[in-house]
Amino acid sequence: MEKLWPITARTADDGEFWLGGCAASALVETHGTPLYVFDEETLRTQARTYREALASHYPGTAQAAYASKAYLCTAIAQLFAEEGLDLDVVSGGELYVALQAGFPPERIHFHGNNKSREELTEALAAGIGRIVVDNFHELAMLAELVAGEQPASGSQLPASSFKVPVPIWLRLSPGVAAHTHAHIQTGHLDTKFGFPIATGDAERAVSLAMQTPGLKLVGLHCHIGSQIYEPESLADAAAVLIAFAAEMRDRHGLVLRELSPGGGWGVPMTEDDPAAPVEPYIAALTAAIVDTCRARDLTLPHLVLEPGRSLVASAAVALYTVGARKEIPGVRTYVSVDGGMADNIRPALYGAKYAARVAGVRGQGSGDRGQGIELVTIAGKFCESGDVLIRDIELSRLEAGDPSTGSGGSLLAIPMAGAYTLAMASNYNLARRPAVVLVKDGEARLIQRRETYADLVARDLPLHAEQP
Ligand code: LLP
Repeated sequence: MEKLWPITARTADDGEFWLGGCAASALVETHGTPLYVFDEETLRTQARTYREALASHYPGTAQAAYASKAYLCTAIAQLFAEEGLDLDVVSGGELYVALQAGFPPERIHFHGNNKSREELTEALAAGIGRIVVDNFHELAMLAELVAGEQPASGSQLPASSFKVPVPIWLRLSPGVAAHTHAHIQTGHLDTKFGFPIATGDAERAVSLAMQTPGLKLVGLHCHIGSQIYEPESLADAAAVLIAFAAEMRDRHGLVLRELSPGGGWGVPMTEDDPAAPVEPYIAALTAAIVDTCRARDLTLPHLVLEPGRSLVASAAVALYTVGARKEIPGVRTYVSVDGGMADNIRPALYGAKYAARVAGVRGQGSGDRGQGIELVTIAGKFCESGDVLIRDIELSRLEAGDPSTGSGGSLLAIPMAGAYTLAMASNYNLARRPAVVLVKDGEARLIQRRETYADLVARDLPLHAEQP
């Protein structure tokens, strides 16, 4: 079970499926389905793996920042704060949740290719650690916002004020293509993200940023894509950034204090995918950074990695209850579950493949009986033919259940559900977004309640309501 499942996942002799010391059947009786179960030990282990790999392979100082777009809620922000990670946010919303959770602002980096003036103002007011400037429009806006601020004097600043100079990174597009799905590829020239090195924009941005009062250019950043298995393209991109930094040193006097070659390390999604341990990736990446710095006679910068998926994907399992079965003889058997593209759009959007296992029958206790293996397609419950979670998978027979209580329906567990599932969840068909529990040592804590029907009308105003 190692590659795809949380490290505490176990199957007992009676077939019962356990996560974090909690029986899946008990979790769903308490919390219902769809239920996302995060395993605390896996989350903490992944954070530690990054910390240790960076410490053992990089001779300079280094830090991992969780790319919170993969999934953020209050408890997850707090857990990674405890683990000593920094946090990468990409919107006012993510920043708000992080700050509400008490995440130290100076450990937050603010990304995004179209930050609004409001978002930049919020980030400045919060005193966040780094603003990652993506384009000239943003650089100009930021320059305007910091203009007129006085350097910190030691006296208490007014609440709306902030310290200058504001440390920034520039996001560059290094022109390195990553081998991954086109939608999640970002480092090549034809991308909306970052200042291209090839066109000279990156150099113009460096020069402009260095001359802008109130801003301090402390680092360069790139992120070339996501779900990348080969360290080479990630290492190449980092080397391109360093080579560029050396040129900028020679031409503009830039001192590269910090380097952030993004996130992007992939994870296996099915048994057919090879395991993707973090350490060899860090080893290859840091070796390229050290070599290039040496060749260009640059002091090793502080290294900041921004993993999202590889920190959280394997920590969560999505639990669904089977409802309807539709057998089309000689064609296909559709088995529908009580979630689908509203809580996990990745199969529909990227053709992402997932594995699954049977975790028992609702109301009948224990787990997979391993009987009557059949080839089925797992469909969601949403009104689109494309709402298929898994096409053609062999599983032991899945029983149809009572759609209202789930009783008698098989319980289906989908692993690698921690990244970009809930984060991209919608209310399509006015689905209520799922509940999320965090399990550890036999205890399950609710960290995000299921949405209610009342939540679905919370923003609505009646047709004839007085206008706000
Ligand atoms: N840093 C930046 C600037 C990013 O844009 C991203 C992801 C990351 C770090 C983290 O990348 P990771 O380690 O998670 O690969 N929704 C897509 C993935 C989009 C990734 C966007 N950026 C999916 O479901 O596959």
